[in-house]
Amino acid sequence: MKIPLQKISDPVIAASGIDLFVLRLDMTHPHISGNKWYKLKYNLKEAKRQKKETLLTFGGAYSNHIAAAASAGREFGFKTIGIIRGEELRTADLTHNPSPKERGTKGTNHTLRFATDCGMQLHFVSREEYRKKDSAESIDSLRKQFGDFYLLPEGGTNDLAIKGCAEILALAEIPFDFVCCPVGTGGTLAGVISSLKEDQKALGFSVLKGAEFLEQKVQKLIISPLPPPAGDIVMQYHFGGYGKHTPQLLKFIEDFEKQNNISLEHVYTGKMMFGIYDLIKGNHFLKNSTVIAIHTGGLQGKLHQHSPV
Ligand SMILES: Cc1ncc(COP(=O)(O)O)c(C=O)c1O
Repeated sequence: MKIPLQKISDPVIAASGIDLFVLRLDMTHPHISGNKWYKLKYNLKEAKRQKKETLLTFGGAYSNHIAAAASAGREFGFKTIGIIRGEELRTADLTHNPSPKERGTKGTNHTLRFATDCGMQLHFVSREEYRKKDSAESIDSLRKQFGDFYLLPEGGTNDLAIKGCAEILALAEIPFDFVCCPVGTGGTLAGVISSLKEDQKALGFSVLKGAEFLEQKVQKLIISPLPPPAGDIVMQYHFGGYGKHTPQLLKFIEDFEKQNNISLEHVYTGKMMFGIYDLIKGNHFLKNSTVIAIHTGGLQGKLHQHSPV
């Protein structure tokens, strides 16, 4: 399908002299949405080329990547295994339909139920064990336990994911000055920067607190860096850290959704969009600039908006 590039014309933007567009990657696929489709695309091809039957990956209890990998496994014929952070979730009943009060607690959450419905086998580990997940020893022990698999890292970020994300900007089809996206592991931003033209600049909005390490990480991930680097990471819109939110953020999301008929969530796209509006109000962008905001999806996490993450 053709990905819409939606022009924003609410009163704040109309008065600003900035042309703001949202690239609706959230409409790419009902379940493998947003940046996930682009991160998975070449990894799935590589897994097929290597004749792997199983994908194994990692994530937290509400992970968009876990949901997308589970759905991709079902759609493209792979078994899937999800290593989930939080041993306490192991004993939770994933099978029953939670009441609204239970939603977002323990293993009853919507993301993990969706993953198991797609056929993903979930394996819960302690936070301590999870931290060691990238070590050769830990991967070795997973292979002993589950047999051969194609490994997708946490958040799906690896070289092939960045290659996929470098194709996102081709969908925009208009000249622009700035492109914005939320930043978690930095893979999406690295792909976007890799495909910028010389007179364009990318702004990533960190959803993590104290994530100064991201600047260097993204620089290392970029496929073909332009001289000088054409990307910056904005650090001040994390709202307390990953998954955290404030009444101010939730109110912004509610107002934005009403005015523009585009859903946002509080973990990634809501924070980015809040940051873009704040920068526009603070005249960060030159008048008549064209700014593209990439809607990276993640709406499966929206149901939990009002529960602690
Ligand atoms: C909806 C959504 N937006 C943005 C991101 C951030 O992407 P990255 O981890 O590549 O920085 C993620 C995490 O992968 C995500 O799930």
